[in-house]
Amino acid sequence: MVARKIFVTLRIAAPALARLAAVARVDLWSGDTSPPHDELLRRITDADGILSMLADRLDAATIAAAPRLSVISNYAVGFDNIDLRAATERGIAVGHTPGVLTETTADLAFALLMAAARRVAEGDRYVREGRWRTWGPEILLGRDLFGATLGIIGFGAIGQAMARRGTGFKMRVLYTARSLKEGVAAQRVGLEELLRESDFVSIHVPLTAETRHMLGAREFAIMKPGAIVINTSRGAVIDQKALAASIRSGYLGGAGLDVTDPEPIEPGDLLLELPNVVITPHIGSASHATRLKMAEMAVDNILDVFAGRLPRFCANPKVEPRRISE
Ligand code: DGY
Repeated sequence: MVARKIFVTLRIAAPALARLAAVARVDLWSGDTSPPHDELLRRITDADGILSMLADRLDAATIAAAPRLSVISNYAVGFDNIDLRAATERGIAVGHTPGVLTETTADLAFALLMAAARRVAEGDRYVREGRWRTWGPEILLGRDLFGATLGIIGFGAIGQAMARRGTGFKMRVLYTARSLKEGVAAQRVGLEELLRESDFVSIHVPLTAETRHMLGAREFAIMKPGAIVINTSRGAVIDQKALAASIRSGYLGGAGLDVTDPEPIEPGDLLLELPNVVITPHIGSASHATRLKMAEMAVDNILDVFAGRLPRFCANPKVEPRRISE
């Protein structure tokens, strides 16, 4: 009997890895950045499973290079890095980690909103650069949250968690969604109305063909002058050059971005030159507790498939899973 092989593309929490090692041969990429694509291709040729990160591109050609594969378990709620259709056609179940990172990601989105509104990162640089010489009535003035309008694009679990934070800070909350959500202290509106009315716009949609560049020059131009854009979903939902141009022109007031296009952001990107843009390195779900839970879920999804079931958190539940080779 040949041991099943799992390729794990970056180190995850040790207890979760140990559970995997109990049922399979774990091939763990030991680099501190994701494996280069040719290395990924090499490592998956004989793999039965992949525990992947959102930076691993698992397109149709890559999936085809792994003939034994029965499960891809993405250590993320989003799975835009995986060609879901190609996986489904080949009988490969795809797992992901919904739910556990909702509040943690909304915390970061709100932290970015506050940081951009109150110029926290600028203030920190101001102090460290030795520019703090006095208290002054006009130093680093920012924006109030209370009474301001927060527009949430995409009202899934994270969008709703963001709305709760907004109402807690006495903001008026608008949202866009395909369907009306009952029992929330927020008003559903169309995208244009949301853009025209909001002082802060926070994006919470997955990246799909439909949402790619859904906010570009036209959308930024109809936003309120001085409005601030927050993005913790995927960088490519925004036309990043158009965002930078609008902020640089002084029209938009700034941005708080946890995601960029590409990631990492290119060193010459104009956004890096704009003081009123706060950028974090895709750490929305990065709390100790949440990353532990994500590791356990990602492993559970693989163990499910090895036990002949669909992953409990399955991104392609219609898949007809291939038989697991022992
Ligand atoms: C996800 O899980 O999709 C997040 O972007 C990662 O933190």
